Amino acid sequence: MDKLFSKVKTPIWFMRQAGRYLPEYKKLRSTEKTFLDLCFNSEKAAKISLQPIERFDLDFIILFSDILVVPHALGQRVDFKENIGPILEPINNKHDLNYKKITSNLKILDPVFKTIKLLKIRNKRKKVIGFCGGPFTVLTYMIEGGTSKGHEKVKLKVKREKKELLEMIEVLVEFSSLYLIEQIRSGADIVKIFESWASLLDKEEYFDFIIKPNMRILENIKNVFPNIPVACFPRRSGSQIFNFVKNVGCDIISLDEKFPEELLEIAKKKNIILQGNLNPKVLIQGGKKMEEEIKKILLRFNNNRHIFNLSHGILPQTPIANVEKTIKLIRDYDETR
Ligand code: CP3
Repeated sequence: MDKLFSKVKTPIWFMRQAGRYLPEYKKLRSTEKTFLDLCFNSEKAAKISLQPIERFDLDFIILFSDILVVPHALGQRVDFKENIGPILEPINNKHDLNYKKITSNLKILDPVFKTIKLLKIRNKRKKVIGFCGGPFTVLTYMIEGGTSKGHEKVKLKVKREKKELLEMIEVLVEFSSLYLIEQIRSGADIVKIFESWASLLDKEEYFDFIIKPNMRILENIKNVFPNIPVACFPRRSGSQIFNFVKNVGCDIISLDEKFPEELLEIAKKKNIILQGNLNPKVLIQGGKKMEEEIKKILLRFNNNRHIFNLSHGILPQTPIANVEKTIKLIRDYDETR
């Protein structure tokens, strides 16, 4: 692990580093009718994954795909509508899914594995990050039928239909584990689990819907690949993050803006690498404020092993010049250490 992250240089990558803030992405995006067609075109997906590397020389390549290819592979209809986001045919329980045909469902994701293989051939220097959504986060989209502000449906179902939902979580744990294992077999050097909606649950629910499923995926991966680093992103977990870190055993933890300060000490003791945590809105704003925030982050994580990243995905309005400036500020800071 130490060899992956040098001590003097702070590695940098950005969540959603390939995307609509890049003109070269928009150009390739316009060549496919639907977003899923783009994700499943391995040639184009590999090109898109490499676009931010070619432009900014970032330290990690993240596979270009989406967390919602998993419900698609499980037989749920998934569309991405321009200016709206994902739209999923709403479902109620595991029987609405093709959950028994794991092998043929995994085969639907072959283009994703091929993208990773292409990335390993085309760039021999940088580590490739594979990923999937956290089971609860994917479940929220499956139940709500898309992005939701209040997440009322899923919150109500967690209280009223816990058993049915946990059965769906079970399907997602099994499938996501195999999916990540296959990504590693295809060449992924690190895998990340995006649990973007970890904030919706109370303490007991958080244990059943967030901690246990993430723990199980990690165990499944480590049983086959004990040395592959696994990154977790239990976004906006607040103080529940202590329980997460205690139980889940991840190697890297990706942080939002509001994590508790004590985590720095705990991570150091447990040798967990911290990743984060510039607010993507500050990256849009730029100027003095951005400079100050970047310096604050570098100082705050100075005594930890740290990968510079955002607290959430990069936004389409982000000026490219601000991304360049951020990278330069971090590299200059490294020079002075
Ligand atoms: O980081 C990367 O560059 C790799 C690619 C990546 C995408 N989505 C591409 C994408 C990754 C890692 C994701 C993860 C993802 N997708 C998450 C977890 C992280 C997070 O943001 O919380 C979630 C919740 C999704 C689901 C999703 N995909 C939504 C809600 C949307 C619509 C909103 C939006 O930003 O457009 C997407 C679409 C999506 N995924 C796009 C990209 C580049 C935009 C699609 C387009 O080009 O029109």
